[in-house]
Amino acid sequence: MNVYDSEQIAIQLEATGYQQTSSLEKANLVILNTCTIRAKAEQKAFSFLGRLARLKKKKPGLIVGVGGCVAQQEGAKILKRVPHLDLVFGTQTIDRLPALISKIEAKRCRIVDVAMAENPEFDPAPAEQNHNPVSRFVTIMRGCDNYCTYCVVPYVRGRETSRHPDNIIKEIKLFVDSGVKEVTLLGQNVNSYGKKEGLLSFTELLARVQTIEDLLRIRFTTSHPKDFDQNLINAFQTNDKLCNHIHLPVQSGSNRMLKRMNRKYTKEQYLDKVTKLRDTCSKIAITSDMIVGFPGESDADFGETLELIREVEFDGLFAFMYSDRPNAPATRFKAKISEPKKSERLQILLELQETYTKKKNEALIGSIQPIIAEGFSKKQSSGSLDKPNQTAQWTGRTSTNKIVNFYHKDIPGSCGDMFPGKLVHVKIDKAYAHSLWGKPVDIESTAEGLKGEKIYAA
Ligand code: 5AD
Ligand code: SF4
Repeated sequence: MNVYDSEQIAIQLEATGYQQTSSLEKANLVILNTCTIRAKAEQKAFSFLGRLARLKKKKPGLIVGVGGCVAQQEGAKILKRVPHLDLVFGTQTIDRLPALISKIEAKRCRIVDVAMAENPEFDPAPAEQNHNPVSRFVTIMRGCDNYCTYCVVPYVRGRETSRHPDNIIKEIKLFVDSGVKEVTLLGQNVNSYGKKEGLLSFTELLARVQTIEDLLRIRFTTSHPKDFDQNLINAFQTNDKLCNHIHLPVQSGSNRMLKRMNRKYTKEQYLDKVTKLRDTCSKIAITSDMIVGFPGESDADFGETLELIREVEFDGLFAFMYSDRPNAPATRFKAKISEPKKSERLQILLELQETYTKKKNEALIGSIQPIIAEGFSKKQSSGSLDKPNQTAQWTGRTSTNKIVNFYHKDIPGSCGDMFPGKLVHVKIDKAYAHSLWGKPVDIESTAEGLKGEKIYAA
């Protein structure tokens, strides 16, 4: 979500004449977009802000601004804590940035603007530039009404509000016209898209997005297990462009903890939904989020979380040590778990998950996966996307969201040149902990092997 918001910030600033630079030293204006979901993210933001003091000393005209969730949460307090800061703006203030910056330029004053938007309908401007020309995020809703007891989001992102489908479709079409092949629809709980406003349902929105010509893949995140229903399960079958992956955060395998977290589902209900999903869509990859060390979590509760992991065999897990967040009710809960205990549980959980991640990756060895080439892999150092060198190591993802690296030079001549956005079929040779390695193959000779598969979302 912050990637998308940062694009919105850049659009606003470019409209006032600013240009992006990759050099911090050259910048006349530095904006830090922040996240406060966990304590660590907030610490990182403050440590970066602290480091800017030296830069401001060298260049007194430098304007420093902080936006996003930390700014929303702390407001004017940040100005006191960071003396070299000029601007604090909130999560719903991005469209006012040009006016705020002009005022600072003219008056050299310090400003705090963290007011929430009055108009619930929000219509961000489509961003034309992006580091990933193939795959883009599209925010379809903002805020959250769920109030999980550990979570700061409802306090810093406000009430749940959905964008009008026409605006979403318009934005995606603009992206696709510029070469984008894949979009990820974003919301804290996409299952409740449009409900409040009486707009389309989420699955109806998915059906509309599917009709966009030249768009190959659709992803979405995040789906709340309490609202995840048969309609969405069916969409995986009926929507050819919808990728075979769902991120379904469970947070804990203990019903006692789930209740204290206010998640509004039980472990049994979660497992039942996973079974239904796999019955309909056997190839679906399921990933999840887990919190360890929630206040009151006993060894037995943690054991139930491990048991759930064994039962589901997730394709991947994001696991976090619980941290107190401002305003979140769990901050006031008793029986806090010590940091060493949380860290120990996190290690145990990650080690267990590693075996399943590996198992799932290894199961793909020998298979042919449709991949959309996104660009060079992280390890690739030579060449540029305009002039890829012949040995460039490319990267893309499977429909199930697994990273696949492959060499350009291995493509048989009939496949032509590689370029970002190209659909390639890659035969998987090796599986690593967090990625796969393969060789592009000529689809003509392997069409038999792919019969009956969704070509884009197999
Ligand atoms: N402490 C630890 N993890 C948290 N998350 C959200 N709030 C907290 C917190 N206070 C995790 C949840 C959520 C993910 C985005 O971050 O697992 O799904
Ligand atoms: Fe936070 Fe819960 Fe909303 Fe997710 S659903 S953003 S965890 S309050």
